[in-house]
Amino acid sequence: MATALPQTVGDTPVTTAYPVSYSQASMSQLMSPQDVSLMGNVFGGVVLALVDRVAGVCASRHSGRPCVTASFDSVDFRSPIRVGELVTLKASVNTVGRTSMEVGVRVEAEDLFSREVRHTNSCYVTMVALGPDGRPTPVPKLVLETEEQLRRYHDAVDRRRARLQLAEERRRRRGS
Ligand SMILES: CC(C)(COP(=O)(O)OP(=O)(O)OC[C@H]1O[C@@H](n2cnc3c(N)ncnc32)[C@H](O)[C@@H]1OP(=O)(O)O)[C@@H](O)C(=O)NCCC(=O)NCCS
Repeated sequence: MATALPQTVGDTPVTTAYPVSYSQASMSQLMSPQDVSLMGNVFGGVVLALVDRVAGVCASRHSGRPCVTASFDSVDFRSPIRVGELVTLKASVNTVGRTSMEVGVRVEAEDLFSREVRHTNSCYVTMVALGPDGRPTPVPKLVLETEEQLRRYHDAVDRRRARLQLAEERRRRRGS
């Protein structure tokens, strides 16, 4: 049975809501010799820095606040990216909590001469909005408008639950 859309989600006390499409961000960068190892493959850290940047733009656009990176979920690189390829990153808010947002980033590499486009990896980044006091501050709610956004939201809620549970277990083990 189809779910009624749009749906507004978020644990925040803020009543303002923005659709996913409002904050979606993308960025492209040509991979240069300084981005690659001696094998000619792009360093994973170069890709992660771009992911962090575009996720930050997306989160700041949604929240209207400066944001910091709270965490990166584990990342698998599915295929190497070579020098001279164009890397394009597409970022979208998947879900919002009270002060945090999970941003999903899809990374693609394009060989401009063969025109082949490969999906090299996807990352889930938790960004936290900061208020003028430098402390986490509530963010606007999120409006889901498509079935795809609803699917991503449900997946993000599962990841958030697992993330918080892991953090809690670690805290307990350390006794803090
Ligand atoms: C992220 C940070 C602001 C959280 O501060 P805090 O005092 O733990 O704040 P809170 O406990 O109120 O948590 C705030 C939000 O962050 C989330 N959060 C905190 N740690 C998290 C983690 N490791 N992973 C995912 N989310 C996390 C919380 O779930 C909460 O989300 P919610 O409000 O949507 O429920 C703080 O740890 C920080 O400043 N870290 C450094 C960030 C940074 O500099 N990043 C760049 C690295 S160079």
